[in-house]
Amino acid sequence: MKNIVILISGRGSNFEAILERSRAERWAETIGADIRAVISNRPEAKGLVTAKQNGIEAVALDHKTFASREEFDKALGDLVASYEPDLVVLAGFMRVLTPVFTDRFEGRMLNIHPALLPLFPGLHTHERAIEAGCRVHGSTVHFVSSVLDGGAIIGQAVVPVLPTDTPDTLADRGLVLEHKLYPAVVKAFLEGRVRLEDGRAVMDDATARELAIFA
Ligand code: GAR
Repeated sequence: MKNIVILISGRGSNFEAILERSRAERWAETIGADIRAVISNRPEAKGLVTAKQNGIEAVALDHKTFASREEFDKALGDLVASYEPDLVVLAGFMRVLTPVFTDRFEGRMLNIHPALLPLFPGLHTHERAIEAGCRVHGSTVHFVSSVLDGGAIIGQAVVPVLPTDTPDTLADRGLVLEHKLYPAVVKAFLEGRVRLEDGRAVMDDATARELAIFA
């Protein structure tokens, strides 16, 4: 069985989207993959409740109880590794990770970022896209490297920016497509249709088409 470990910090709607698709398509039988655990750095994260309600192991590892970023990353790495993950999915995980963590899961760790990378790494992406006058915005799923929001791009979802948009309405429109994009990328990775090679995401044309999503 291929083990998936999902890291969250809050709401966990992307985790839910992946869970729903994995159950609807019976990934355990069809691709031999299962969500083994959901881990949050914030104990109050709503996604932990969702995980428990669905019979998935839910664990909180509170970053505030560690003296340094590196100590937290070592403990988090040990916890994640204890599930022997084939894939680590960052889904709204809002901590900057050091190489102590990222090096350990290179090539088998994904993140979703709410912008069309390489535009707008970091925070406040919707505000920044509106401020810059962008006519499209969206989200990116990428391999995680030691550079913040800087790893190889796998798939992107594109939405229009409307003159009446606020950061919240733009985020909501983007989130709808995130829930299509992330499960699709996770599935493609688990099926061996996407891999990291020499710092780039490698896939065939059909997969690249599937992982470019337009509103
Ligand atoms: C998502 O929109 C995701 O793109 C973003 O946080 C939200 C989490 O929502 N991630 C980042 O900003 C990472 N830097 P969710 O908890 O409902 O999945």
